[in-house]
Amino acid sequence: MAAVCAILAVTVAAAGCAPSTEGVLGAELYEQSCSVCHRPDGSGFGNWPPIGPGSNAVVLGDDQIAGVIRAGAGVMPSFPRLTDAQVESLVAHVRRLQGAR
Ligand code: HEC
Repeated sequence: MAAVCAILAVTVAAAGCAPSTEGVLGAELYEQSCSVCHRPDGSGFGNWPPIGPGSNAVVLGDDQIAGVIRAGAGVMPSFPRLTDAQVESLVAHVRRLQGAR
């Protein structure tokens, strides 16, 4: 399906396909909801912990990261209104940040 959307997106903004590339969705959500604290590259600053390369978050499972996003942690707000797909794309974006050494 993703491949179909990718092909369609080149020719026409097919319904449901335009914002569909997971990478774009995760990056946008991260930019809107997370980067103010964790920084665009996940390096954190001050009281906001790093979640990028070399951070403790590297060893967390995908489920644990999804859980933090849904339920919050300490002073981190929860994001209970995100859909499963949005949370998944955020986890994927965090993994990309962690791999960007
Ligand atoms: C208001 C600032 C703030 C925002 C916005 C925020 N966080 Fe956090 N985040 C924190 C703080 C503070 C912690 C540490 C919480 C604790 O355990 O005390 C944290 C912890 C985490 C952790 C666990 C890190 C670890 O080492 O255990 C992950 C993963 C994470 N945040 C991802 C995200 C994602 C993804 C978003 C966006 C959906 C987000 N955060 C938005 C402040 C924030």
